Amino acid sequence: MKIQPLTPTIGADVYDLDLSCELSARDIEATINAFLKYHVLLIREQKLTPDHLVRFARYFGQVGAYPFARPLPDHPEVIAIIKEPEQKTVFGGIWHTDSTYLTQPSMASVLYAVEVPAVGGDTLFSNQHVAYEALDTSTRQQLSTLTAEHSSAKNQDKLRTDHLTSGAMQQQSKPVFTAIHPVVRTHPVTGRKSLYLSPAHTTRIIELPEDESEAILASLFSHALSDDFKCRVRWQPGTVAIWDNRCTLHYPLNDYHGYRREMHRVTIDGDRPR
Ligand code: SIN
Repeated sequence: MKIQPLTPTIGADVYDLDLSCELSARDIEATINAFLKYHVLLIREQKLTPDHLVRFARYFGQVGAYPFARPLPDHPEVIAIIKEPEQKTVFGGIWHTDSTYLTQPSMASVLYAVEVPAVGGDTLFSNQHVAYEALDTSTRQQLSTLTAEHSSAKNQDKLRTDHLTSGAMQQQSKPVFTAIHPVVRTHPVTGRKSLYLSPAHTTRIIELPEDESEAILASLFSHALSDDFKCRVRWQPGTVAIWDNRCTLHYPLNDYHGYRREMHRVTIDGDRPR
């Protein structure tokens, strides 16, 4: 197995893996170590069924159903993220990390490119360990005791992709999920700290007055998205990505109106952030 970093801070291409076959224990260990080191892995030129995708995700943890989007028939763990040529909104189209509005947000997500636009449709990722480490000591000290609220209601209109919503969810009148998490979390495996804010869903810092909370969130969102912390993923049909939701943000660019894009996603359950 060969690994080629994408940038100095985040992302790597992994070569010589065929995910349609069961991986050896050695390859699984090497892939998990690479995931912990680079936070976003890309495995290209795969030809996978939904079962292959779920098997790959299970090497990293327990696969969870994602109740907010319609799964593939017979594959409750796999959702199809589709943007049709005539649609204007894109699923997850604001910088975020997955499901922070849940008490136990998902720890990682796996995405498989089934159909990609001829132009555009890349996804950007940002390393939030490096974002945290780039803060000055007094800011880090200030953030260490703060917690933030995350809500699925924030930006709901901009993020709305009704065609993807599961039947069960369509029948409910837009349920709202909220959770409170530390602003700085510690990675449960590596022990490394990261900023844990999600521009799409973080609404306020609990311990601060509203105006201070707004000001500090605006400044931290902007810091978290510095080009120094980012990589850009150009998809090809057959690309598989896995990213670590505990220490990254991502943003699917919505720059391909008139083209179709279809991705299959599996999410891996996580613990309560600490
Ligand atoms: C997501 O936010 O999970 C989707 C990412 C993408 O479509 O590139």
